[in-house]
Amino acid sequence: MDFSEYGLTEEHEMIRDTVRRFATEEVEKGAVERDEAMEFPKDLVEQMAEMSLLGIPVSEELGGAGMDTMSYAIAVEEIARVDGSLALTLAAHVSLGTAPIFEYGSEEQKKKYVPHLAAGEYLGGFGLTEPNAGSDAAGTQTVAKKDGDDWIVNGSKIYCTNASHCGVFIITAVTTPGIGTKGISAFLVEPDWKGFVFGKKENKLGCRSSDTRELAFEDMRVPASAMIGKEGEGFKLFMKTLDGGRISIGAMAVGIAQGAIDKAVPYSLERHSFGQPLAHFQAIGDKIADMEMETHAARLMVYHAARLKDEGRRITKSSAMAKLFASEAAMRATDSAIQILGGYGYSREYHVERYYRDAKITTIGEGTSEIQRLVIARELLKEYS
Ligand code: CAA
Repeated sequence: MDFSEYGLTEEHEMIRDTVRRFATEEVEKGAVERDEAMEFPKDLVEQMAEMSLLGIPVSEELGGAGMDTMSYAIAVEEIARVDGSLALTLAAHVSLGTAPIFEYGSEEQKKKYVPHLAAGEYLGGFGLTEPNAGSDAAGTQTVAKKDGDDWIVNGSKIYCTNASHCGVFIITAVTTPGIGTKGISAFLVEPDWKGFVFGKKENKLGCRSSDTRELAFEDMRVPASAMIGKEGEGFKLFMKTLDGGRISIGAMAVGIAQGAIDKAVPYSLERHSFGQPLAHFQAIGDKIADMEMETHAARLMVYHAARLKDEGRRITKSSAMAKLFASEAAMRATDSAIQILGGYGYSREYHVERYYRDAKITTIGEGTSEIQRLVIARELLKEYS
């Protein structure tokens, strides 16, 4: 595949080649077994750390690779091409666990956590979703009450990616009840603090070798210095973090869709039916054409959002559009790949059913497709009003 049409730099091409080699030589083998066993690949995460992937957009002073969002999107895309689970592990760590500290933390917080996160000594977690607060993120019921200089936090979070491997979590809690989003603050908490309890590990449809867990806080004492950003500004900080994260979920969806193309097209040329390759049937050609066109469009949208982020522009609408389009395109592409491979496609051995299951989370995680439509419509209405 020729990526030169995307106007990428030599550095971007280099990161793609490096990550593609790693994905093809190291990640793809064993992906089916890891998925089946829900086995988190610690060794692959260590290799990603050695390749500086865990700190791609973090500045070199703080131990990162000092690369741009585009490089990060390309890395996630290339890993997702063979393993959505590992791409999700990377994306959640970089965009949700590390970026908010790197972008909004105090100097002290940055120094305390970011070099360790960038080096992969531990991963970073993001605690927003709760049993009664999913799409309605402002409905958080976790509370933080002032006690002297400290805060006492009680509540729970669910669907926290990488949780078992995290050394720090950014969480939201209500610090002033009854005033909506302006009563929500953000804190950095550590798993060995008294009152921090891990809940059950999720048994999921897809991305099964990524780790997803519940967290609970039982009278957890949190020092004032652990608040990130100002009191009452936690909700906005989380929304801005999600704006960036949605680019990487879009990139993950692009990678999965590309993986589906990479499996389906060669198969359609090799497999003969009624005396000719499957690819020569118009019905199959139509599917392949749609897969290619939509993956290309999704990639352009993701790269566009990445470029805007690198230019320091507001990305709320473009990242929501990129994630929405790419995730839904990935569902269609993986569905078509299974259809083209037929019975083989439905079998666990041939990867594409895993791609289909892995793609589904991209339409849900970091905001459902319905929430992306809501965000896009609200942004557009603002432009017109
Ligand atoms: N950037 C900056 N500020 C923003 C913002 C953004 N993207 N989005 C909202 N805000 C600001 C608004 O301007 C508003 O500020 P003012 O009060 O000063 O005007 C404030 O935040 C409140 O915004 P809204 O009134 O729009 O809030 P809302 O309650 O209507 O909700 C929402 C908005 C978009 C629906 C939001 O709740 C949302 O994004 N929901 C989805 C949450 C989500 O994506 N969850 C997935 C988490 S990922 C996970 O948990 C798993 C994992 O590890 C991967």
